[in-house]
Amino acid sequence: MSRKMQPLPSLEPVLDMIASASGIYAERVPLLAAVAAQGAATVIVIFVMAIIPGDLARGMHPMSWALLQGVAAAALGYGLRMEPWWIPMHALFVPGLVGALTFDPPPEFALALFCVLCSVYWGVSRSRVPLFLSSTAAARAVEDLLPRGRNVAFLDIGCGVGSVLAHLARARPSGLYHGVEIAPVPFFLCRLRAALTGRAYRVSWDDFRNLDLGRYDVVYAYLSPAAMPGLWKKASSEMRPGALLVSNSFAVPGAQPALALDIGGDGASRLLVWRM
Ligand SMILES: C[S@@+](CC[C@H](N)C(=O)[O-])C[C@H]1O[C@@H](n2cnc3c(N)ncnc32)[C@H](O)[C@@H]1O
Repeated sequence: MSRKMQPLPSLEPVLDMIASASGIYAERVPLLAAVAAQGAATVIVIFVMAIIPGDLARGMHPMSWALLQGVAAAALGYGLRMEPWWIPMHALFVPGLVGALTFDPPPEFALALFCVLCSVYWGVSRSRVPLFLSSTAAARAVEDLLPRGRNVAFLDIGCGVGSVLAHLARARPSGLYHGVEIAPVPFFLCRLRAALTGRAYRVSWDDFRNLDLGRYDVVYAYLSPAAMPGLWKKASSEMRPGALLVSNSFAVPGAQPALALDIGGDGASRLLVWRM
């Protein structure tokens, strides 16, 4: 008597459920998600060390284990749907630590690293605005705010590596997009990105406080609480009536926004919009 083969149960719904739960998790607390990815990757490597024969494990260079941990952490970060810039950070974090401890780099290396970090986080001690990047969800929400049917003049003050500018220039090519960035390395990367994407937006290396905000229909800021009172004063005196000031996450003390859009599903990541 032939027995009919039962089809194997599909794992797809379970994988979908894990992916969407982890996506929500990653959106809510990216830092915790990063720690979880690093921790879980370390546990995986310890597990692999424990199950492979002792001689083989002892013969492996610490950097090989570190690279394995980096690959696992990057894969977990990807699985947790973290922003793309987290993936190389996950891949290089532990190998970087092991490299620094194992190869005892010369002091010049530390000096060079210091210089690179200075040019990325240029002027943070004064501006109190570090570099972190807008999410794709934020860029899409900004896109939805742009008035339709005319060529919008848009400015990203402190444009970083151009995440929002590149998105808008692709999604709404009829607009005029301008970014201003004070830190040399992000400015250079932003300009390189513009060149590689057909100069769809313009970038200046400058302090946004030197610009006239009255030339723009929409001004986008992702700065810090410390920068908001000064920005509000400048925007109130320079921006045209009807123009939009959009702040990612940070409020202006005492100025109620006309609109607050939740962009992270957690109430903490939001776009605040003021009509001037
Ligand atoms: C949080 S990041 C936001 C980057 C980008 N707008 C985005 O949303 O992905 C803030 C950026 O503003 C830059 N910045 C801080 N103060 C500035 C100033 N006074 N003028 C121009 N850029 C400034 C910093 O160097 C940093 O790259």
